[in-house]
Amino acid sequence: MKKPIIFSGLQPTGIPTLGTVLGATENWARLSAEYNCLYCVVDMHALTIRQDPETLRSYSRNALAWLIALGLSPDENTLYFQSHVPAHGELAWILNCYTYVGELNRMTQFKDKSAKNEENINAGLYTYPVLQAADILLYQASLVPVGEDQRQHLELARNIALRFNGIYGEVFTVPDVYIAPVGAKIMGLQTPEKKMSKSEAENENNLVLVSDAPEAILKKFKRAVTDSDNEIRFAEEKPGISNLLTIFACATGKTIPQAEAEFAGQGYGQLKTRVGEAVVEMLKPYQDTHAKLMADGAYLDTVIKEGAAKAADMAAPTLTAVKKAVGYPMPV
Ligand code: TRP
Repeated sequence: MKKPIIFSGLQPTGIPTLGTVLGATENWARLSAEYNCLYCVVDMHALTIRQDPETLRSYSRNALAWLIALGLSPDENTLYFQSHVPAHGELAWILNCYTYVGELNRMTQFKDKSAKNEENINAGLYTYPVLQAADILLYQASLVPVGEDQRQHLELARNIALRFNGIYGEVFTVPDVYIAPVGAKIMGLQTPEKKMSKSEAENENNLVLVSDAPEAILKKFKRAVTDSDNEIRFAEEKPGISNLLTIFACATGKTIPQAEAEFAGQGYGQLKTRVGEAVVEMLKPYQDTHAKLMADGAYLDTVIKEGAAKAADMAAPTLTAVKKAVGYPMPV
């Protein structure tokens, strides 16, 4: 039996947050046992915003190394750069011809990004969701783990697949959003009512990135929002303290009641310091692994090369089927 396929794309700038590490990574190993998982660093999507070439190159490599450092084994998963598999661009062009401008006009992310980038509203930004659909459909992915902000793009990918299949028969698997089982939900340090996320990050103290240096992490926790009653207990009306207790529990492998007991009689200042220290300690092995990966150029090069080759092999049958379906002359 072939395993069903999971595809996810991440931006080269996308250094994972503490929330990802505490909430998601332990799910990753389980996923690779049940699914054939592809994780693609979407350097082509990144071009929709003007990039400095050297920065894009180094961020892309850095992002891929984070995936490995956080536990996605390149032997169990396919990790690669989008631009290394030309089939993405080829399929995107074809799918452009099966997508209506009316659909793209409705994309809220396009509207948001255009408003923020008035000087560079390029056609790539407009057709970004079509390239995303190509990413997914190319691999016959049945599940796509994405955040809320990507739901509309996934809905479009489904509609494109359904439309194409309606004309040519069952060429594409129609993908579903993958909702990760709820692990710990980590909230922002400055806005503990809201999930820790980059889109909320006008204030850099709100979120911890796995790449943050120890001093930065300690400082961010020192500034975490609490409340004024000076009682360390987990309660809905105490989002700041509850979040710190959750983070502490996750980082140390303890339960919430154990965490509460540990801080009995202590002040908020001590709590913040100790949670910060626990996070620094928890992240250290990941940071060390990442540093080693970045230092071992030859190993990372091999992963990148093999990842692209595996992905290209998986993509080829779909692209051939699509070319046949639409009526391209077949190579002779
Ligand atoms: N648009 C996604 C984001 O900004 C990244 C992405 C590109 C993606 N292609 C994808 C996500 C395919 C899932 C599947 O986060």
